[in-house]
Amino acid sequence: MHMRLVHAPMPTGSIWEILERALLAEPHILGSRITATKLRELYDEGLAVVGFYEERLVGFIAAWPVSADHVEVGSAWIHIEHRGVGFGTQLVAKMADLLREQKKSGFAISDNPAFIATTRKVHLPLHNEWKSPIPYELTCGPCEKFPNDEMKDACPYRNNACRLILFNS
Ligand SMILES: CC(C)(COP(=O)(O)OP(=O)(O)OC[C@H]1O[C@@H](n2cnc3c(N)ncnc32)[C@H](O)[C@@H]1OP(=O)(O)O)[C@@H](O)C(=O)NCCC(=O)NCCS
Repeated sequence: MHMRLVHAPMPTGSIWEILERALLAEPHILGSRITATKLRELYDEGLAVVGFYEERLVGFIAAWPVSADHVEVGSAWIHIEHRGVGFGTQLVAKMADLLREQKKSGFAISDNPAFIATTRKVHLPLHNEWKSPIPYELTCGPCEKFPNDEMKDACPYRNNACRLILFNS
C-alpha cells in the first residue's frame, strides 16, 4: 500500500488547518511551534511532506530550521486509522531523501518507539553522542524531562527512551 507523497508546489485548500488540529492533539508532537501558517511556510520552502491515501489527508512530516546549519525533523503524523501499515516509514524515507537532495544536515529527537522504529526501517543512524556533530544546545539543551542541566550527562532518558537520530549529518 502506498501513499501519494507530495512536496512543494502544493495544491490549494484548508489542509493546513486540518493538520494544525491533528498535530496539536498529539502528545508526542511539540505543539508550541505548530500553526497552520507555519506548516504551510515549511511546505512552500520544501521542508515538509504531506501524504494522501485515496484522496484523504493522512500524513505529514516537517524539517524545522533550528539554526543556520541544521534542521530538526519532527511533527511526524499519520492519521490514527492508517497507522501501522508503513505510511510513517514512507514519510521518513521521503524526508531523508529531501534533506539529502538539499544537502541539509538534519536530526530528530524522539521518545516515541513507533517513530524511532520508522527511522530504523530506513536505516538512519541512531547517534549516542549529543554534542557532535549536532550542537548540544540543539539536541539536549534544557528539557522538562530532566530540568537539572548541570547534571545532564547523567540523564537516564538519554540513549534509552530518548533517542537522537541523524538525517544526512
Ligand atoms: C509515529 C507515527 C508517525 C508512525 O507512523 P506509522 O504509519 O504507524 O508507522 P509505520 O507503520 O511505518 O511503522 C511503525 C513501526 O513502528 C512499530 N511500532 C509501533 N508501536 C511501537 C512500539 N510501541 N514499540 C516499538 N515499535 C513500535 C511498528 O511495529 C512498525 O514497525 P513494523 O512495521 O516493523 O512492525 C505514527 O504512529 C503517529 O502519527 N503517531 C502520533 C504522532 C507522533 O507521536 N509522532 C512522532 C513524534 S516524535
